[in-house]
Amino acid sequence: MNKDIVCIGAGYIGGPTMAVIAKMNPDRKVIVVDINADRIAAWNSEDYSIPIYEPGLVDVVKEVRGRNLFFSTDIKGAVQQCDIVFVGVNTPTKMFGRGSGRASDLQYWEATARSIKEYANGDKVVVEKSTLPVRTAAAMEAILNGGTGNGERGTGIKFTVLSNPEFLAEGTAIKDLLEPDRVLIGGPETEEGRRALEAVVDIYAAWVPREKILTTNVWSAELTKLAANAFLAQRVSSINAIAGLCEATGADVDEVARVVGADRRIGPKFLKAGPGFGGSCFKKDVLNLVYLCETFGLHTAAEYWTGVIRMNQHQQERIVSRLFSAMFNTLANKKIALFGFAFKADTGDTRETPAGTVARLLMEEHVRVTVTDPKALDNARRDLADLPGVVYEEDEYKAAEGADAIVLMTDWRHYPTLDWQKIYDSMRKPALVFDTRNCLDAAELRRIGFRVLNVGK
Ligand code: NAD
Ligand code: UGA
Repeated sequence: MNKDIVCIGAGYIGGPTMAVIAKMNPDRKVIVVDINADRIAAWNSEDYSIPIYEPGLVDVVKEVRGRNLFFSTDIKGAVQQCDIVFVGVNTPTKMFGRGSGRASDLQYWEATARSIKEYANGDKVVVEKSTLPVRTAAAMEAILNGGTGNGERGTGIKFTVLSNPEFLAEGTAIKDLLEPDRVLIGGPETEEGRRALEAVVDIYAAWVPREKILTTNVWSAELTKLAANAFLAQRVSSINAIAGLCEATGADVDEVARVVGADRRIGPKFLKAGPGFGGSCFKKDVLNLVYLCETFGLHTAAEYWTGVIRMNQHQQERIVSRLFSAMFNTLANKKIALFGFAFKADTGDTRETPAGTVARLLMEEHVRVTVTDPKALDNARRDLADLPGVVYEEDEYKAAEGADAIVLMTDWRHYPTLDWQKIYDSMRKPALVFDTRNCLDAAELRRIGFRVLNVGK
């Protein structure tokens, strides 16, 4: 087996993951391939206008691109050159037919499995990097090995399928990849499986301490990824469920979270109340878990996890309800500026962003919506293309001019440092700030003259 690696899928997961693997394994060639030629061209662009904004990523790409990291649309050539094939294609929620709205749409993944089978010219270790429903590896193996059950197809080529889910978070991808809490690799409990597993362990062992590389069987690895995201999403929904109660009772959700999180059994992370979780994965993966529970007749477990999603949706509806009450029960024709459209700071990603839901709810109320964001304005334009009235403004001060309210949706680090007096002076009065991330100095804003709303206070 050679040590070279191909990753099919040059997206948020394939690009950064393979860039770091190439950086830390200078003796291996790493090729990232995709059917999307524009994306590959962007990865290869001379001025490094790579398709993803991620702190530190461009420096890694500058270091390794052309050295041992290559981006290409030649999927066949890359599969033939490399014996280890990572699959990092998208697995969105299925929006049609059986399992619509919950199950994973596996069409991209299956197309990839079929191209690997078509192009392979020798034995391959196939590594699932995408997040997939538990037991997908069995289906992958059936496609690759022709369903013979003996691990071989007519040509004698053997495919061994492993699961190596990724735990990086957007905005901190490079740090998470360089210093992971753990790396998880699941493999079949056969001699071949163990050999394949060791080959993939070796890739990470180049920089990750061995005790942090956890190995399991394939099904545990696939399920762990869904469980890990579901636990994180559940913590966010739990604190948001407490936030409403804080608003009703005079408690302060940040104080409650600080003290609850000081219990070492609970820990302080993922207890920040806010507009609800966004991002491409939490909702998709929890829905996937719900679908799996239902498939196996575990209806109460399915309802339990559905509650996490319901709470999240409710949190965004509550933002608009509270604005409505605070703005004299009519929002029509008022100007509201959304500060931040990305689903969290330090990313341009807007998939499932709470700001998108809030923008839509406000447009239903005939609000004049202006969106500003330092990194996500192009994505915002694309996401809201069906809402022609929305205005996009790069400059926060211009976005705020004449507005009745500002709703801070994303916790961009520079927002607290803006000149809020200047912003206040340019707004229509009474001027309202709804800080859904509790990141501004509310006392100072009130001193300036703003009316202030927070989450959980
Ligand atoms: P993405 O949409 O950014 O990238 C997927 C890429 O796969 C696209 O560029 C697409 O063109 C390509 N692709 C699709 N079908 C193909 C095919 N048949 N052949 C070649 N290329 C093909 O998606 P992503 O955010 O990178 O997510 C990929 C997977 O990783 C998902 O399962 C996701 O759940 C998982 N994941 C994502 C993150 C994250 O932070 N985004 C973190 C952990 C896990
Ligand atoms: C998440 C997980 O953290 C990663 O481990 C996982 O690999 C990834 O999903 C994935 O599978 O795609 P990501 O979605 O990039 O990463 O970002 P997070 O930092 O987890 O934030 C998710 C959402 O929850 C954001 O909208 C964020 O603002 C929100 N959040 C997070 C809160 O509202 N409160 C918190 O305390 C933490």
